[in-house]
Amino acid sequence: MPLLWNETEHSVGHPLLDEQHRTLLSICHQLAGLSADDTPHAEGGFLDVLGELARYADTHFETEESLLKKHGYPELTDQIGEHDEYRARMTLFLRNARHGVLERSRIQAYLVDWWLGHIANTDMKFRGFLEARLAADPSGAA
Ligand SMILES: [Fe+2]
Ligand SMILES: [Fe+2]
Repeated sequence: MPLLWNETEHSVGHPLLDEQHRTLLSICHQLAGLSADDTPHAEGGFLDVLGELARYADTHFETEESLLKKHGYPELTDQIGEHDEYRARMTLFLRNARHGVLERSRIQAYLVDWWLGHIANTDMKFRGFLEARLAADPSGAA
């Protein structure tokens, strides 16, 4: 399992979101291995995993944003703003890669910092809110 996941620091108290966060951190962990690898196929492998991370992050942001919207989370705009910044940065990394610029270590460091910080700070802010909403209406968990 991912070495970066820590229940106390990262669990937002929602099983599906926690599972998605664990997967995202696990993909960042794979990128760390590929960014330190100087063998010929490592760069292509890094790019494949980067594409996988971009797709999975889109799925996660969709799940999280629609769940928070459904429950009327008051800080949704801040959430979406941070997600949008991330999407823009990822688009830039992928565009640069198509032009032959792929700074693997720098990209990996940015991504792991972003995810650890976003989950532990910004996502963690909705934990209490979501728990209270779901306790009041367990059918709203999906
Ligand atoms: Fe988020
Ligand atoms: Fe999240």
